[in-house]
Amino acid sequence: MAIKPVHQKIFEKAKPFLRTRKNLIHTRIALRYALKLLKSEKGEEGVVIPAIILHDVGWKVIPEHLHLTAFGPNPSNPKLTKVHELEGAKIAKAILEKIHYPPKKLKEICQIIRGHDSRGRPLSWNDRIVKDSDKLWRYSRRGMAIDLGRFQIPRREYLVFLEAIIDHWFLTPTGKEIARKEILLRKKDRP
Ligand SMILES: [Fe+2]
Repeated sequence: MAIKPVHQKIFEKAKPFLRTRKNLIHTRIALRYALKLLKSEKGEEGVVIPAIILHDVGWKVIPEHLHLTAFGPNPSNPKLTKVHELEGAKIAKAILEKIHYPPKKLKEICQIIRGHDSRGRPLSWNDRIVKDSDKLWRYSRRGMAIDLGRFQIPRREYLVFLEAIIDHWFLTPTGKEIARKEILLRKKDRP
């Protein structure tokens, strides 16, 4: 994966926090989409890449058996979403400070993480790219397989839902385009 050495360093430091549930694979896939989006959407690599790498580190402080109560089609404990955002921003700050990351970028990265799921309106183009990369995971082959197992939804029903929500969910034209392409591929996948 073509990321800068400084970002690889951040990833290495994030890994211990991502080894919970399926967050490491989720982050790798979201990172791949972020790199793709940065090719055609105007965003700053120095903000977007660390933000996507670090956005979910906060789940580590929440017991694993509670994760699925916080998200998905019927969350019973949505407050945990906020907890993982706030804790994640704290962990991200500590990681970035340790490697002397530029303070202005650090501040923006932490702002993005603090509301990456709960904030309806994006703060910036950087934030839009992070949000779209995170959601595109659901459209990837691996992400869809994992989510179908978690949410216990019939595959066909989930495909209809994901296709219908593209315009509402995605905040960048490239995000929408990639989501549409992925849906076509998923329809061809062998379930
Ligand atoms: Fe995420």
